[in-house]
Amino acid sequence: MIMTLRTILIHPDPRLKTRCRPVERFDAALRKLAEDMLETMYDAPGIGLAAPQVGVTRRLLVMDASGKEEPPQPMVLVNPEVTWASEDLNTHEEGCLSIPDIYEEVTRPARVRVRWQDLDGKAQEQEFDGLWATCVQHEIDHLDGRLFIDYLGAVKRSMITAKMKKLKKQRA
Ligand code: NI
Repeated sequence: MIMTLRTILIHPDPRLKTRCRPVERFDAALRKLAEDMLETMYDAPGIGLAAPQVGVTRRLLVMDASGKEEPPQPMVLVNPEVTWASEDLNTHEEGCLSIPDIYEEVTRPARVRVRWQDLDGKAQEQEFDGLWATCVQHEIDHLDGRLFIDYLGAVKRSMITAKMKKLKKQRA
C-alpha cells in the first residue's frame, strides 16, 4: 500500500474544535486513512494523532507510546470510549502536533480502560497506564474538540493561541 503524509492542522482551526462523528464504514478508505495517519505521526515525529488533526472529523486515532528501546507498537483505535478511569492522577508534560513546540503539564487519571473497534469493526478493550494512558486520553479529547491547552488557565491559553496564529501567518 502506498502511504501518504497528511497535512497536520495547526491550532486554531474550527476542525480541531469539532465533536467528531463515529466511524460507520470499515472499508479500504478507513484502512488507508489509518495507515496515512500512522505514517504522518511517525514522520512528525509524535506518539499520537487524531483524525481531526488531519482534517477528518471522525472518531479515529492512532498512537504508539512505546519506549525508544522497545519495538514499535502502532495502535489504531476506532470509536474509542473511556469505560473506566482510576481515581489516582498523574501529571505529565504534554505536547501536541497541532500546537508545535509548546509543552505544559496536564493532570489526568493515571490509568484508564478504553473500549474501541479495530479496523475490521471488531470490539477491543484494554487498560492503559503510564505514557500510554496520557496519550490515549489526549487523543480521545481531540475527538471531542478538546485540546490539552483547554486544561490551562485562560491567560496562558490565549498567549499560546496568539503564538500559534503568528506561526500560521509565518508559514502561509
Ligand atoms: Ni494533540
